[in-house]
Amino acid sequence: MFNSVPFPEAFGLDISDLSIKLVQLENISNLKGGPSFTLKSIRSISLPLGLIINGEITQEAQVVHYIQKLLQGRGGKEKKIKSPWVVINLPETHTFIKLIVINKNIGEIIQDDVEIEAQKYIPFTEKDGHYLDWEAIPATDEPNKTKIIMAAAPKIITDSYINLIEKAGLNLIAIDIESLSIARAMVTADKQYQNEARALLDIGGTKSNIIIYDNDTVQFSAILPFSGELLTTAIEQKFAVSHERAEQAKYQYGLKYQNQTKIWMVIMEQTKKFIEQIQKDIYFYYSHFPKTNTINHITMCGGGSMLQDLDKVLTNELKIECKPGRVWKNLNSNRVIQVPYEESIKYATAIGLALRAADNPFIKNDSI
Ligand SMILES: Nc1ncnc2c1ncn2[C@@H]1O[C@H](COP(=O)(O)OP(=O)(O)OP(=O)(O)O)[C@@H](O)[C@H]1O
Ligand SMILES: [Mg+2]
Repeated sequence: MFNSVPFPEAFGLDISDLSIKLVQLENISNLKGGPSFTLKSIRSISLPLGLIINGEITQEAQVVHYIQKLLQGRGGKEKKIKSPWVVINLPETHTFIKLIVINKNIGEIIQDDVEIEAQKYIPFTEKDGHYLDWEAIPATDEPNKTKIIMAAAPKIITDSYINLIEKAGLNLIAIDIESLSIARAMVTADKQYQNEARALLDIGGTKSNIIIYDNDTVQFSAILPFSGELLTTAIEQKFAVSHERAEQAKYQYGLKYQNQTKIWMVIMEQTKKFIEQIQKDIYFYYSHFPKTNTINHITMCGGGSMLQDLDKVLTNELKIECKPGRVWKNLNSNRVIQVPYEESIKYATAIGLALRAADNPFIKNDSI
């Protein structure tokens, strides 16, 4: 059977501080056409403040309760998710990725080679312990050398997510790194990027993340101090209004000038800091990495990327075209997806996780 994936109906679960999102895809690939998927389920649930703080699970039982509620669905079209197979990610704030080069052919590399090289870079203390995962990148321009994308995460954080998933009654297939899941959804899988690099910008509820994709892989990622909640709280404090009112104002005006100078100024003040940090990160990339290509497009995702006119302001200031992306493109299917654009864009990470969950290792897949 060409379509028999190893983990039937496996899905992606994007666990954030303030939301949990689920995407389930069906693998409809065939050997001729390459990887292709259709959407089976998409849903999310909001989390109250304080259950997960900066990626640390502080109230496990409560989070388990919300996961189960999400799986159960709200009835009607939203049916119970029966598959136990899940791919999750670890919060970007607690993970580390780096591209390393090992002086061996791809087939000769063993775990120890990567461990030894990785020790030079991993920013966690030895006492804390860590998990290390890696993947070799086949394309190479130098013989006897292999590029490896390595990912590491502290043991304590990783174990807390493994326990959470077990307690929710699910079986973990894989743990992903957020920047890799985002890239899997947002970088066009079957396109060869030659002499050009992409930046991806995920603007979420509690944090933003810049990811640089160049020479066929994620090269660099960093957390940025900008988020939907940061803007709402800034408006709330400046005008002494409720959180709901501030959230409404943010949606309504965003960075559209419209004589709304007061709200515009509050949002602009935060956006300027955001722009400065993006510029620093891009500069860091160009000055610290070998053989960099020019970033000629920034693809945005996450709910915060829908802030009115943010794309225009970023494009103007950064002098790089900056636009919210197409999150469904790597499903590679003609079937229409009935989810509004503003809603879909929040699911970039969950879609990346779902693509990994539904992946069929027997069919060649060029995505990350
Ligand atoms: N049209 C819009 N205008 C402005 N902000 C918006 C809009 N739509 C969504 N947002 C904001 O997007 C944020 C939620 O985005 P998203 O769902 O991507 O976050 P998250 O994945 O839960 O958080 P994180 O990735 O930071 O852990 C909220 O702060 C919300 O106010
Ligand atoms: Mg998110």
